[in-house]
Amino acid sequence: MRPTLVLAHGFPQDATVWEGTPAALHEHADVITPDLRGFGADDREVPNVLNMDVLARDLADLLDERGVHRAVVGGLSMGGYVALAFAERWPHRVQALVLCNTRSTADPVEARQARFDTAETALTKGTALIARGMMPKLLSAKTRREQPGLAARVDAMMARQRPHTVAAAALGMAARPDRTGVLRALEAPVLIITGDADELMPLPTSVAMRDAALDARLVVISGAGHLSNMERPDAFHRAIRDFLTELAQAT
Ligand code: MLT
Repeated sequence: MRPTLVLAHGFPQDATVWEGTPAALHEHADVITPDLRGFGADDREVPNVLNMDVLARDLADLLDERGVHRAVVGGLSMGGYVALAFAERWPHRVQALVLCNTRSTADPVEARQARFDTAETALTKGTALIARGMMPKLLSAKTRREQPGLAARVDAMMARQRPHTVAAAALGMAARPDRTGVLRALEAPVLIITGDADELMPLPTSVAMRDAALDARLVVISGAGHLSNMERPDAFHRAIRDFLTELAQAT
């Protein structure tokens, strides 16, 4: 049966990061790329702390609305935290998991403190400052050199997110638990994608997830940084297409 693939975007971004993905994968899956609660065009109420579980519940509700019981659930970075929260709560609804440029571990203490600072900055100084602070770490040097327009697009997309949502999501990420155990227990296949120049999620974090999971494969995209889907969409989509083909053959 044709799978549904739902992809959650990262922080502090919106569904436009997946521009091109539904078309690139349409022969293999029905692709859903929602704005997560409070991001982009989504205007649902956002609590002061936006936990990953709330965002996972939103994905489950979205699948329910579409009459989809099991799906390939994926996300990039924060979206990966959401996908893992989904897999923890509803493992039977996960046909497969796609984790991109993300990690399964919780934040160490100093990273948690940095989240509190991010939340404070978003609320008091605005999201443009958050975008400017994050930008240097999002794209590889190669991408910045070869695609100068991409940095400006990503910067503008992050700067236009609502301060309250950005602060709430930062606090939600700080509160997330270690979900490596989810990977150890999940029987569904897992695809892990990362960029070899991802400074925010260095390669060992992806290797650790692959080693923890029961059934995982890791694709490392050369020349890509943290936004591997936007930096090398050709290689990114090929990795997902190959995985979906493998899934179809196995069922
Ligand atoms: C993201 O891209 O979603 C963020 O870098 C995730 C994080 O800050 O942990």
